[in-house]
Amino acid sequence: MSQLTDVAQKSNQAKPDSTPDLTKDSVKNTATNPITQKNKSEPAPPCVLVIFGGAGDLTKRLLIPSIYNLAAAGLLPENFAILGVARADKDDDSFRTDLTEEIHQFATGKVDDKIWGELVKKVYYLRGNFDERPTFDAVKSRLEEISARHNTGKSRLYYLATGAEYFPKIAALLSEADMVKQEENVWRRVIVEKPFGTDLASAEALNKELLAVLEENQIFRIDHYLGKETVQNILVFRFANGLFEPLWNNKYIDSVQITVAESVGVENRGNYYDKSGALRDMVPNHLFQLLCMTAMDCPTSFQADAVRGEKAKVMEAIHPLTDEEIRSQTVRGQYGAGTVKGKEILAYRQSPKVNPESTTETFLAMKVLVDNWRWAGVPFYLRTGKCLPKKRSEIVITFKKAPFSLFRGEEVGQLESNTLVLHIQPEEGISLEFGAKIPGPKVMISGVEMQFNYQDYFGQSSSTGYETLIYDCMIGDATLFQRADNSELGWRVVDPMLKLWQKEKPDFPNYAAGSNGPAAADELLARDGRAWRAIG
Ligand code: BG6
Repeated sequence: MSQLTDVAQKSNQAKPDSTPDLTKDSVKNTATNPITQKNKSEPAPPCVLVIFGGAGDLTKRLLIPSIYNLAAAGLLPENFAILGVARADKDDDSFRTDLTEEIHQFATGKVDDKIWGELVKKVYYLRGNFDERPTFDAVKSRLEEISARHNTGKSRLYYLATGAEYFPKIAALLSEADMVKQEENVWRRVIVEKPFGTDLASAEALNKELLAVLEENQIFRIDHYLGKETVQNILVFRFANGLFEPLWNNKYIDSVQITVAESVGVENRGNYYDKSGALRDMVPNHLFQLLCMTAMDCPTSFQADAVRGEKAKVMEAIHPLTDEEIRSQTVRGQYGAGTVKGKEILAYRQSPKVNPESTTETFLAMKVLVDNWRWAGVPFYLRTGKCLPKKRSEIVITFKKAPFSLFRGEEVGQLESNTLVLHIQPEEGISLEFGAKIPGPKVMISGVEMQFNYQDYFGQSSSTGYETLIYDCMIGDATLFQRADNSELGWRVVDPMLKLWQKEKPDFPNYAAGSNGPAAADELLARDGRAWRAIG
């Protein structure tokens, strides 16, 4: 589907994966999946997709629109079906009717009724509780009937789009009902949504529970940031071009900023968010994925384990923060009332299903050091938050200044750093800022910008980001999914912060909705003689 995946396939074929297995002992098996389709422009192999949580928000907003996009792109197998499983009182007909209404609301482009009409005929529904064995016996017999009708064979993709508390139970019951056994040409894979644990201990426990009944090659821990084209492009930008990588180290790079700013507040997710907070919600997954893509070394191949091994090395190199460093190098915040994009916003504590005295953070900034040969001395500043002035995710690479000011004595003022910005969303592209001479007899320099916009070259993107991930899972390519150790290494870094933040009560709220976050976040960089790139 993407350019990246084409590159991946080519290098897969060219080189065997020689990267040492970095997974922990708890990981039973990292062997290659039984089927790995090489050609990513072909439809995925026949299978049934079972969505646990089929009546939920994720299904209607993202999963079904993505599956529709795969169908429209000719990437779904002819012999395919979907079985939604949930507690809601629906049957095949009402499920199809609801999805038909919702696809017109949530599709990423115009819906072709012919394609949708064909797809929706392959959709089924089963009502049941996720933690009861009879549900799984019913799913099993329903699957036999459905797969015979659609000639799908025995391969299954189980998507766990439920509350996290059900993940281990569903995996265990699938296994108990003998629904996860793989044979030659029969694969059984499980996509696990986030949150993958709430701290290191719970992530380890979840891995243990999943690995007790599944092999590592059957577990696809999803991080939807890895489905974004602009995120996948980081590796292409770095490793498919000769220009940038020689500069990509502490000799030339001064610092890196990773911002994932959101203008939305907690909306109606107070129930989940108030227990989670920005640190758990965004850092061990999305922000660390961006950090890994930016900081990792070039893998020896584009095989899943080679890529994931390099990412694991970055996470292992992150300098663990002591309590004192947490106090001086991290900042947390919670929004009070304010105005975002001209709209008045209530304070976080007044949001539905949020404790009115909540100490949950809706913002955080932190300074991360990656202790390895390439990055020693280069700070990575990470920041994320809700109710900031704009939605903006970007990675800003600031280069060191020119070592010698040739133009001193002229009216050039201070030489500026060159900056490379990887725009992840909503702008998608890359820009490079550097100095140029202002025309005229005097030597005067002005900052100018070179820009690449995805849209200019490749047109408007019309995907949710889940398409590549679902397709990759169907063909057995785990490159864009987290391995057991990747998920635990993220928690290892944030765990001390969670513990200290729980002990030391913050003075919240400390930023107004619509502002750039707490003043302490600016001070964090100011102390190092740096400043955040503006969000608004
Ligand atoms: C989710 C978080 O994983 O990512 C949300 O739970 C957050 O709180 C969302 O809003 C951000 O995703 P995106 O793709 O909109 O940047």
